[in-house]
Amino acid sequence: MTATTYLGKPTSRIEGREKVTGAAKYAGEYNVPALAHGFVVSSAIAKGRIKRIHTAEALAVSGVLDVFSHAHRPKLASSDEKYKDDIAPDGSPFRPLYDDRVRFSGQPVVLVVAEELEIARFAASLVRIEYEPEAHVTDLEAQRKRGAISAPDPSHAHKRGDPARAFEQAAVKVQAEYRMPVEHHNPMEPYATTAVWEGGGRITAYDKTQGPQNSRNYVADLSELPRDKVRVLSPYVGGGFGSGLRPQYQLPLAVLAARALKRSVRVTLTRQQMFTLGYRAGLVHELALGANRDGTLVSFRHNTVAMTSQFEDFQRSFVTWSSMLYRCANSELGQRLVKLDQNTPCDMRAPGGAEGLYAIECAMDELACAANIDPLELRLINYSDKDQIENRPFSSKELRECYRQGAEKFGWSKRTPEPRSMREGNELVGWGMASGIWEAMQLKASARAVITANGSVEIASATADIGPGTYTMMAQIAAEMLGVPLQDVTVRLGDSSLPDAPVEGGSFTTSSVGSAIHGACRAVQKELLRLAQRMPGSPLAGASIDDVVFAEGKIRHKQGASREIPVVDAMRSGRADRIEQEATAEPNEDGKTSRYTHSAVFAEVKFDAQLGVIRVTRVVSAVAAGRILNPKVAGSQIVGAVVGGIGMALHEETATDHRFGRFMTHNLADYHVPVNADIHAIDVIFVEEKDDEINPLGIKGVGEIGIVGTAAAIANAIYHATGKRVRDLPITIDKLLRD
Ligand code: MOS
Repeated sequence: MTATTYLGKPTSRIEGREKVTGAAKYAGEYNVPALAHGFVVSSAIAKGRIKRIHTAEALAVSGVLDVFSHAHRPKLASSDEKYKDDIAPDGSPFRPLYDDRVRFSGQPVVLVVAEELEIARFAASLVRIEYEPEAHVTDLEAQRKRGAISAPDPSHAHKRGDPARAFEQAAVKVQAEYRMPVEHHNPMEPYATTAVWEGGGRITAYDKTQGPQNSRNYVADLSELPRDKVRVLSPYVGGGFGSGLRPQYQLPLAVLAARALKRSVRVTLTRQQMFTLGYRAGLVHELALGANRDGTLVSFRHNTVAMTSQFEDFQRSFVTWSSMLYRCANSELGQRLVKLDQNTPCDMRAPGGAEGLYAIECAMDELACAANIDPLELRLINYSDKDQIENRPFSSKELRECYRQGAEKFGWSKRTPEPRSMREGNELVGWGMASGIWEAMQLKASARAVITANGSVEIASATADIGPGTYTMMAQIAAEMLGVPLQDVTVRLGDSSLPDAPVEGGSFTTSSVGSAIHGACRAVQKELLRLAQRMPGSPLAGASIDDVVFAEGKIRHKQGASREIPVVDAMRSGRADRIEQEATAEPNEDGKTSRYTHSAVFAEVKFDAQLGVIRVTRVVSAVAAGRILNPKVAGSQIVGAVVGGIGMALHEETATDHRFGRFMTHNLADYHVPVNADIHAIDVIFVEEKDDEINPLGIKGVGEIGIVGTAAAIANAIYHATGKRVRDLPITIDKLLRD
């Protein structure tokens, strides 16, 4: 595909109008007759047993239908396997309302169902629970000091050369620990499920989820319903950031109640209860870097200790990234876990990469300072053309160009290296930079394409669109390939009954589902060409599919506009009312190359030394991520992710009161996220990157790459502005004013 009509063009969201007018319905907005409402009671202790639940008062409230708990609930599956969703980590998944055991503070222990939400909520306040508490542990740092740490996970361990010796002999050294707090996703839309009782044991659940099929399989399996009796829909999702990859507990609670009551039931979580779901795990990075005087890395050691729950071992790859970015003969990487009495952490905004690159890129900045080398220059000195863990080249890597274009746009060459050396008015100015890297993943996915006799097209796949513009990009692919106007393409997503597709996450949806749509449209093209060639005296006779293009509603021979047939004519003459094709695209994994997206992030901060106030006044993010299907929505992804990076650097932290083992900052007043006043100029550059190897459309995927490296660039800018190296996120005023 060379000249394109839709691919690569900035295109507004096709569902934008529905969203801004309120016509787009979210999981908690589907009103059905006789809908009952559930309210969750959360555990008040972190660990122990439930001795007794007093429900009489709640049940006496007029309008209360039932009060469910482990002591009073429909039958649930008993094997761990039935609770393992598609992306469950190793361990024994949490089972809502299963038994009397309390595993974390905020665990759902009772569901009150009533005619009205307010009645359910009031009655829930009357439920009294007697606990038998046990001593809990929730302090990562304390457990780490006590040595209550798991053995290194072999799947995240790597060693090459002799890093200890090389470090010993290095002329320049940096050794430091970096800490990251627990963070919660806090999408705008709280978790909700409207479980519609269809009769005959069938349930349709409108659920807030990033993966309707994952949620369908999970809830059907644990409630021992055949999977074909359950349908889960999530056509619109008000943000997820990873919190909706695994099914959340409102779904099984709503479905169980609907089954028990033979009535439709909605369960919506409060903002406070959003802090009882998975979260970004708190962790400590131990970094030790050694280099020669000229900045050449000789030793790179990166070890992490991260928190997980007592019942599941969750962690992503925190430490591998330096081996993709920087050439270094001696390296040691490892990850260990501390088990705490908390819910299991989960994926959040570039899980693994966002954490790893924060520490790696701050340590590289410290090394640049120690070696007296410009931070950008240090990255170029150590640039790696090889994935040193798999020992293979990259399918494409335009990171050098990201550095160049980003630095130019930002004006990096005007930076004076000395901390506190740049000023504007009363404020100190700091400039920092960092590299970003994220996996260019593709998973197996299927899609269906249908063209009807009037030339309209429908595309369908089960995956969700959680906000990145998936509807639009999928429509662009279909419109391009079938030569129809964009507005003639309807896209259906977020429905477990549609062709199989993975959860939306990992920045892999466009490559995965996009490739499936490419395949399905290709099959439709072939069928249309076949019909066109059967027409008497067809000008396309003898043409192969590669000899023709589909444009302006016509099948046109590449060798001349006179050799063309309107698609509708081909269909009419073939008596085809509709042509329907389904395709499955699998990742092309030849194992010969590694596939990553890259970025260079430059940040400017201004610091008021009297007040300690930091503002991120400018960010330039230069991204290389293969073909960009839609620079408008992809650009919005990067801007949003940079905002996430600003939150990570300056604001976001879930504080725990270890006496109670409880997250205390469980509302948006105490849990800070960036607001409009925190956000200034954010410039996104998409660096051209051609990658013919990864998939037919050359798509790597964007989104998460925008957050990776951003917090480090800001932290480095803060050091440059203030001369103060704060290694514990978030970098708040108190840490900057403290000596
Ligand atoms: Mo993303 S953290 O895979 O939704």
